[in-house]
Amino acid sequence: MRLIVTGIAGFIGTNFLRYYLENNPCDEIIGLDCLTYAGNIKNIENLQSNISSRFTFINCDICDYDKVKKIFNEYDVDGVINFAAESHVDRSIDNPFQFLQTNIIGTTNLMMASKEHWLYDGKYRENSRFLQVSTDEVYGSLGTTGTFSEDMNLSPNSPYSASKASADLLAHSFFSTYGFPVVITRCSNNYGPYQHPEKLVPKTIVNLLNHDEISIYGDGRNVRDWIHVTDHCKAIECVFKNGKIGEVYNVGSENEWSNIDLVKKIIHLLQDITDDNCINEKLIKYVKDRAGHDFRYSIDSSKIRQNLGWNPELEFEDGLKQTILWYIDNKNLTV
Ligand SMILES: NC(=O)c1ccc[n+]([C@@H]2O[C@H](COP(=O)([O-])OP(=O)(O)OC[C@H]3O[C@@H](n4cnc5c(N)ncnc54)[C@H](O)[C@@H]3O)[C@@H](O)[C@H]2O)c1
Repeated sequence: MRLIVTGIAGFIGTNFLRYYLENNPCDEIIGLDCLTYAGNIKNIENLQSNISSRFTFINCDICDYDKVKKIFNEYDVDGVINFAAESHVDRSIDNPFQFLQTNIIGTTNLMMASKEHWLYDGKYRENSRFLQVSTDEVYGSLGTTGTFSEDMNLSPNSPYSASKASADLLAHSFFSTYGFPVVITRCSNNYGPYQHPEKLVPKTIVNLLNHDEISIYGDGRNVRDWIHVTDHCKAIECVFKNGKIGEVYNVGSENEWSNIDLVKKIIHLLQDITDDNCINEKLIKYVKDRAGHDFRYSIDSSKIRQNLGWNPELEFEDGLKQTILWYIDNKNLTV
């Protein structure tokens, strides 16, 4: 298969590129990215030759419909996995417009170009498929109990999650209206290598290594459900190959942490790894809470586990230690 994978120079895209081509030796990836502040070209340089020989990078804004269409015609792709997005909640609160452009218009452009390329004589090309990468944030916020299941109403609270929910609804509408071969995944918070240092886990690690303060919103009790990025990539591969068209699959690893407990965990792991006494809880600073801050996310992923046989593999402590070591070794990629 030849796939278009968008957002290839971002956090999950770059992990997916390595994981997928390593494990699918006959497939090719055409990676699209317009290299916003969140996309780092260094993430996709110096790839092993078994990967680079089947990878083509194209600098392309998914909001540019004509360019997207041209790429479809030139490369005759069989599938699309759409990671490209504006992804930072705080930035969406400061300025929602680019979120609407990329996350809604950009996704619609990709679906329209795919539809036009794959639909012939009223039938889609055999095995053609579009996977929309979404987030558990589209479900809104939970109290201290309960979990998100796929049949819950969408109730997004930030401009970011509202734009992702809009894309999910458009994807569903393409399935209902045009029979478009789309599947959607909704994953919980990812951690792992190559993440932009504005996000909680890398920001905490990088700040601690520099003995800088770590800002925690509110009282730090907000809860997120964490999964290693490689487990997410495996789930995407699984849904892309075996998911039922028109369906949504939640992805998570039942691993809830309050922000403050997670930061303290990273402090203790880093103390053990570096033996540096300056890395301690005194660096924690509580700041004014984020506007509209969702209290808790918790994702029920029994559907993908039971129907498709995917299960997360990495233990959190092991994954977190690997992640910390990666940021220590790759300071050049986190600036
Ligand atoms: N990171 C998480 O915890 C998480 C969890 C669930 C779902 N997701 C979803 O997964 C996807 C990838 O997330 P991420 O954390 O890798 O994001 P990221 O911000 O690290 O990367 C996004 C990439 O998209 C590119 N991009 C942005 N706008 C573009 C445009 N108009 N055209 C082409 N490229 C563009 C950026 O340059 C960047 O390389 C997103 O759709 C996000 O909503 C992320």
